[in-house]
This record gives sequence, structure tokens and C-alpha cells, in this order.
Amino acid sequence: MADPKENVLMEKLVSLCKRRGFIFQSSEIYGGINGFWDYGPLGAELKRNVKELWWNRMTRMRDDVVGLEATIIMHPQIWRASGHVDTFSDPMCDCLLTRKRFRADQVDVQSGIAYHFTGARDSVSGKVSQDPFAVLLPAGKPPESARKTAVAFYQLRGLQNVELSGETTEKVENSQRFNPENGALLTEPRPFNLMFKTYVGPVADEENVAFLRPETAQAIFAQFKNVHETSRQKLPFGIAQVGKAFRNEVTPRNYTFRSREFEQMELEFFIKPDEAVEALCGQVATPSTPGHPGTPQPDWGWQMWHQYWVEERIRFYESIGLPRTTLEEYWQKPDELAHYARATVDLLFKFPFGTQELEGIAARSDFDLSQHQRFSGKSMTVFDEELKAAWPKLDPTRQSDLSERYRLARLKYLSKTGEPAEKAEKQAAEDAANLGKGYYVPHVIEPSAGVDRLILALLAHAFHEEESTDEKGRKETRTLLSFHPSVAPVKVGVFPLLKNKPELVAKAREVRESLRSHFNVFYDEAGSIGRRYARQDEAGTPFGVTIDFDTLGERPEWKDTVTIRQRDSGAQERVAIAELRTWLETRLR
Ligand code: GLY
Repeated sequence: MADPKENVLMEKLVSLCKRRGFIFQSSEIYGGINGFWDYGPLGAELKRNVKELWWNRMTRMRDDVVGLEATIIMHPQIWRASGHVDTFSDPMCDCLLTRKRFRADQVDVQSGIAYHFTGARDSVSGKVSQDPFAVLLPAGKPPESARKTAVAFYQLRGLQNVELSGETTEKVENSQRFNPENGALLTEPRPFNLMFKTYVGPVADEENVAFLRPETAQAIFAQFKNVHETSRQKLPFGIAQVGKAFRNEVTPRNYTFRSREFEQMELEFFIKPDEAVEALCGQVATPSTPGHPGTPQPDWGWQMWHQYWVEERIRFYESIGLPRTTLEEYWQKPDELAHYARATVDLLFKFPFGTQELEGIAARSDFDLSQHQRFSGKSMTVFDEELKAAWPKLDPTRQSDLSERYRLARLKYLSKTGEPAEKAEKQAAEDAANLGKGYYVPHVIEPSAGVDRLILALLAHAFHEEESTDEKGRKETRTLLSFHPSVAPVKVGVFPLLKNKPELVAKAREVRESLRSHFNVFYDEAGSIGRRYARQDEAGTPFGVTIDFDTLGERPEWKDTVTIRQRDSGAQERVAIAELRTWLETRLR
């Protein structure tokens, strides 16, 4: 639970986001829709910047990553292969009285006396209900209120003049089986799949069911072969995708943090299995020290690549204004790992409502491609010419050791998927034999980030209030969003000192025109210059350019110069208009 100060910060942030057009409740005019949020003019710019920075760093600035833009609705088999149809669920229960739905593991724990009833009878009509029911009361409360609740329950089942039957009591401690709001018994927990269902085509039947994707990752796996072949990439290489994903969260919460519609930025980085690396390099490098392991090397195994991506992602956050000290690395414990993962590091951010996940970096073995290979019947192996050439030169003992390790890994995967033992053995032996011929299913490291969570983290980190006293002794509060310039929605505000001086206005508009094709510029001539600065401080605009009488030549030596004010320090300096663009460019990265 966040302490009150933190809640106050969240309230202020939510209010600023609405007031300044960063984030609105979706469908607000109809009362909103829980778990859905819209980004207003400033929020849309902030989001675009973040996605573009991620995309540039992950794809354009690297030789070994290419992009993909896939559809949201895909063949439903994809979600069977990925495990989402069977396992992507939360345990849910309903209040037997009100039908209100709860996540079973999030119901408040309660103790007291449970009043059980085996059923009830209508004393006039003789109608009987044999549905059992129970009500939990805190110890010491009169049983009458439990009976009243039970009567209401049986009335819902069509009994008018309720006579309760089979009342017994039981002492209950630390139970999550009762509705904390009215004490009524909850249904048994049952899995609730988080995928949104829809129908493709005009007939709404089971054959046409499809899902809105709950992650962008699976399209990358499904298109792996096409991308590999057409991009002429060789392992190790990655495929990146940014896009919407949907999860029918039972309890959307913490503002935009857990939303039902959200955006992801995911990279699937495909690497060689360690057995292939060892065959090629004679050894597999594993991490020996913490921190960034440096330039990728051919002998890196999955652990080196995993550490590399954790560090690369932290560097990305640093580069957009989230210092390492605002992040925490959490290495998932073996019993917390998803069934496919060998290791997962969560990068956590200290949000005002608690320290929560911003990104997960998972070493997913060859699970994903293997699953799609099994479900689609299409080979997901790659052919590694170098491995084929290196294999015959290996010592026979090394050959059989590597083959055996690979066979056991494949057997483990195939057995876990429930393949019959004989079939699994045969397939694993075939896979091991193919390794020596240069074929294997790539392994993958997946850095998976949530755009909306990152936006919220950037907003929370940037939010500042500064107290000051003006010349008349009045206390003032300056609210500012100290965004890193690279993510700031507006890069520069342009202001004529006075609105009613046509020469100042004309010059200011000229300056705006000269900058607007390079940066997002906001022109403002309304109100005092102080108010205009304050408005841009709240929007997080790092620089303000003011056109005054000196710009027009009142002081000849300052002709064609402007004042630039820096948001965080309030410092001002004079810069020639001719140098303005370069001055800004060097400071906006
Ligand atoms: N692809 C991992 C996730 O969506 O959480």
C-alpha cells in the first residue's frame, strides 16, 4: 500500500495529465470504460517520441536487428502454440449474492464465524432450494444479519417466504472465500482467460473465434522464417516490433499501469544453442562479472546474451532520462519463472504506488519456435553452414558429448509438451543428429517493454513542484515536468514578448517557421511571458525562445538574437537566430 504522500503525488500527476492533455479516460463523455485510456495532444507526442527512440536504438542503430509490423488478429492456432489458450488465465470467483467478480488470490483475507445453510424452503408455496450458502460475520456480531443475507440469497432463487435449513457455524481464520463487502460466500475459483475473443467473418460461432493479441511477441515467432530468409540475417539476430496488445485484466489498476489495451515494444533476439556455440568456438563464454559485457562475441552463450540485453535496456532507460538509481533489477526465482524461461530479469521502476515491472528480459530457450514447429508442422530450424563445416573436425568425444546434451535438452522440451515417450525419444534423437549437419531451432532472448508503463514512469520521474517567494513575499508553486529533451512532447516554445506589437509577432512567427520542420515547436502569444513560461514548464518543454525588442535591433549588438530560457534552471542566454537550430539540435539529444 502506498503511503499518503505517494497517493498525493499520484493525484497531482493524474490531475496534471488531464488538465494539460497528456492522458484522458477513454469514452469519458459516457462515464468512461474501466482499463482504457486515451493520450491527448501532449501524451500522443510523448508516446511517439518514446516509441521512435526505442525503434531507432533497437533497429536502425544496429546491424543485427530488423523490424516487423504484424496484424493484431492472427490465426487462433498461434495462441494454442504459445500456451495462451490453456494457461493465460487468472483464478476468478463471484459473490453468490451480488455476482461481483473477484480475483481469487486478491480477495482480502478475513476471519470470523461462518454461518452455513444447506438450503431453504418457501413456507407458503413449499418450493425448496438445495443450494448451499454461507455468510461470514466478524466474531461477536449477532447471527441475525447472517440469516438476513441468506434470506436474500434464497429469494434470488425464487423463494418468497424463506425458511432457512441446516444452519451450522464454523470458526474461520484468514480465509479468502467470502466477499469482504457483504460476507457472502464466493464461488470456487476458476480460471478466467485474459484474451479478448472476437469472431472473424459474419458467423459468430466457435469455428470463427479469434483473439486480440495479448502480446506482440508471437507474430515475431510466427514470421521468423520469412524474416530470416528475406532480411539475409544470420544468427545471432533479432526482430523488433512495437504495437498494441490486449488483456482483459480482471482488476485494471494504478492509472495506466495495468490497462486492458496497451502497447508493447518487444525484441526477440535469436541466438545459437550453446551446443552449437561450443562446437564452433570450442567453448561457451559465461558471465564472470556484473555489468555490460561489451561488444558481442561469437563464443557468447545464452547467459552472456541475457546479461548483455539487461544492460543494453538499462542504458536505454538512462539515455531517456531514467537514471539507474530509479530502476531495480529483479531476478525471478526458479519457482516464479514462466514454464519456457531459463532466466528472467524484471526491470522495476519505483512508481509512486510501489516498485513495479517496467520491462522483462527473458531467456526463453528454443521453446517458442519449437512450439510453432510442432503446431504448424513447418520447420523452424536454421541451417548453419559454419557449424556443418566445424562439426566433422571435432574430436569424436566432443561430438558425442554435444549431441547428447542437445538430445537431452530437446527430449526435456518434447516430454514437457506431453508428446508420447517413444515419439519424443525418436524426435530428440533426430534433432541431435541434425545438429551435426548444421540444423537447430534458435534460442531466444526477449526484452519486452510496456510503452504505457514507461510513459507513466517518465511522467512520475519528471514531475516536480518548486516553492518560491515572489518580490511581494507571496508563496508560489512552480509545477514542471523535467523530461529528458529527447522525450519531451514539445521541444521549444516560441514567444513574442508582446502580442500587440506586430513586428515582434511577425519575427516570432518567422522563427517558429524556421524551426517547425526540425522540432515540435509550440507558438504562444497569450498572457504574460511568465505565464507562458509556466505553461511550457508544465508541459515539460525544455527550451523557450523569446523574441523581444533587442531581436528587432533596439540594442544594435543584439539584433537578430533571441533569449533562450532553460526549463529546469530558468537560466537565460542570448543566441543568434542563425545559430538557433544548431544550438537546439545539440541539446535535444
Ligand atoms: N512477451 C512477453 C509479455 O508480453 O509479457
